[in-house]
Amino acid sequence: MSWNHNVHYHDFALGEVPPRCQWALDVGCGRGALTRKLAPLSDEVIGIDSDHGCLDQARTTHGGTNLTFLEGDVLTESLPFQNFDFIVAVATLHHLPLRRALERFRDLLRPGGVLVIVGLYKIATPIDYAYSATAMPISMAIRFLRGEEAVGAPLQDPRETLATIRRESAVLLPGSVLRRRLFFRYSLVWRRLIRPLSQASSGQHAKGLGAKEKSARPAVCSVYCRQGVQCAAVP
Ligand SMILES: C[S@@+](CC[C@H](N)C(=O)[O-])C[C@H]1O[C@@H](n2cnc3c(N)ncnc32)[C@H](O)[C@@H]1O
Repeated sequence: MSWNHNVHYHDFALGEVPPRCQWALDVGCGRGALTRKLAPLSDEVIGIDSDHGCLDQARTTHGGTNLTFLEGDVLTESLPFQNFDFIVAVATLHHLPLRRALERFRDLLRPGGVLVIVGLYKIATPIDYAYSATAMPISMAIRFLRGEEAVGAPLQDPRETLATIRRESAVLLPGSVLRRRLFFRYSLVWRRLIRPLSQASSGQHAKGLGAKEKSARPAVCSVYCRQGVQCAAVP
């Protein structure tokens, strides 16, 4: 596959998929390139996008029986609460209201799950400009050598600076790790604790789910589940 600034970070995102991943969600999946790469790593994968045109294209190159492409707004679509082991959003967060989207991702992620955001930020500081100036010739060289893959999905300029995103994510996703990246992007990784540290008895909070907690996992909506279990969990 040829290259673009989003494809460049696919391997990074895929490297964060937790072992024994049952449910993965690709937010703003566009034409579904990353969604398809998730198929071998998760029992079920949902790619959601609000754009009809790119979802049509994603569906025509459907890459596995465990993939579902869903047309909808990730903020309002009735996705099961705390169901996803892995949520990824590449170049999508800046299309959404920042706080609301971070809260939504947090609510959809199950305890023990991993959220990965590869995002764009508004270039505002001398360091931002220095990174951009470094990225441009490198980007041109790679595109020359490998060819450029069109994103083929709606694009938007970022509104928030890196400082704003850092501040909001520190509050809403405590313990998240945000790193400035090349090609006008940052990465954010958040691992949701199985139990908040304050509730965990010492040394036990990260040992995995017990049988009781596993069985308490909410049933998922039949829209998404192959067994047709009736949904008891959609908020
Ligand atoms: C820049 S594209 C990125 C596409 C893809 N993730 C990639 O890396 O090539 C952003 C995508 O977010 C989608 N999007 C914007 N708002 C959305 C929303 N509220 N719910 C779901 N998808 C949304 C757009 O339709 C678009 O396809």
